[in-house]
Amino acid sequence: MTLTFASPDGPTIPLYPVRPCRLRKALDTLGERAATWAKAQDFNAGFGAALVIPGEDGAIAAALGGLGDETARKRQRFAMAGVASGLPAGRYALQGNLEDGDLEEACLGWLLSRYRFDRYAKQPPAVAELVAPGGVDAARIEAIVAGEVLTRDLINTPAGDMGPAALEQAARDLAEANGARVEVTEGDDLLDQGFPMIHAVGRAADDDPRLIDLRWGEEGPTLTLVGKGVCFDTGGLNIKPSSSMALMKKDMGGAATVLGLASMIMTLGLPLRLRVLIPAVENSISDEAMRPGDILTSRKGLTVEINNTDAEGRLVLADALTLAVEEKPDLLVSMATLTGAARVAVGPDLAPFYTGDDDDAEALAEAAVRVRDPVWRMPFHDPYEAMLEPGIADLDNAPKGGFGGSITAALFLRRFATHPRYLHFDIYGWTPNPAPGRPKGGVGQGARALFDALPEILDL
Ligand code: BES
Ligand code: MN
Ligand code: ZN
Repeated sequence: MTLTFASPDGPTIPLYPVRPCRLRKALDTLGERAATWAKAQDFNAGFGAALVIPGEDGAIAAALGGLGDETARKRQRFAMAGVASGLPAGRYALQGNLEDGDLEEACLGWLLSRYRFDRYAKQPPAVAELVAPGGVDAARIEAIVAGEVLTRDLINTPAGDMGPAALEQAARDLAEANGARVEVTEGDDLLDQGFPMIHAVGRAADDDPRLIDLRWGEEGPTLTLVGKGVCFDTGGLNIKPSSSMALMKKDMGGAATVLGLASMIMTLGLPLRLRVLIPAVENSISDEAMRPGDILTSRKGLTVEINNTDAEGRLVLADALTLAVEEKPDLLVSMATLTGAARVAVGPDLAPFYTGDDDDAEALAEAAVRVRDPVWRMPFHDPYEAMLEPGIADLDNAPKGGFGGSITAALFLRRFATHPRYLHFDIYGWTPNPAPGRPKGGVGQGARALFDALPEILDL
């Protein structure tokens, strides 16, 4: 599904975004009839509220969109997404002078509000269209939205239609559309090429495990993105209870998010060299499944005791990260739906991230505020390193007790991502409760923030 601005040709309806404290002034300019109508409709410019104003002929002459008061704007983002969903069919043109950031948020929210996941059933279409306001970079916003749409579609597609092979195909489609190259190592070749842990996690499934390796760009600094592509996570032999397994089609959310980010980077032609690595597997159950107590030898040579087959994400990422650092990119990023502990710590709305580089952390956090993609820095807390060491192997994949589960998982990855600029996101990848511009379902986290921070982080 492509979400774009309406063509600028033809008649439009003026739409006034307005805060409650400015409502009176806005209505003054629209005239007495409009003021009476707004009052009769109980329109107070609340967050996301929409009101159309009829002209003499009964047709829509103008519209008002509520931005909400300060408290509401602190609590929620994308007011104009709510407005767009509440307006009748038409082509709207934003009036007034929203500041730059607010104007971009309005446009982004509007386009995102038009997202529907309609692969399996028809959905009621979005009817209110937005003409790109002067002063915004329409192509940039459309490309960012397209990346987010890709992420959502990939996550929302159930595992039966989005197994490792289908995820590979999605990467190939994206590559083809952007002139990128893809190489894939699949099945037993993973053993020959030195990816034993990707193989061990995925070997129980019919749909072969694989490592997807996409490259794009000829010049500039090098950026490698690694995404967890666990297409379904049963937990393996340490099987998950039903309630925990229910949503596990989203366990390739990291892969979906790095592909969305890659899409933004390639479409807008950022001056860098990009590599995307996705270990794509199904953590399944069969007589071939890895067992609790097994000890795997990773690509890096470190041995890992499998104390819980449900801590599979860090295993597949470890081998991919090892490959990534072999060529020393300027920045190495991983994104993964890695732990339930991350969701417990910060909830579904914030993307926790880890980095040892204070400047990168600051650049990312500032960008996150600018583009309304909230992130929160977590610590690589060295004293917890001891928790990863079981004794009979170099590493334990599932430290007992689960204390600091997101942190110990991040520390585990850092043992492999031995790189001065390593940035790791432990995301949730799912919107449990619908909000403006974010329907229930798959969602990208951290990608827009990182995209906005990249020029600063990589000095582009
Ligand atoms: N995919 C899950 C993590 C997850 C669960 C993310 C729920 C989002 C929501 C991951 O593979 C997993 O099962 N992690 C375990 C690790 C534990 C066994 C050390 C967890 O977090 O419970
Ligand atoms: Mn798991
Ligand atoms: Zn998982």
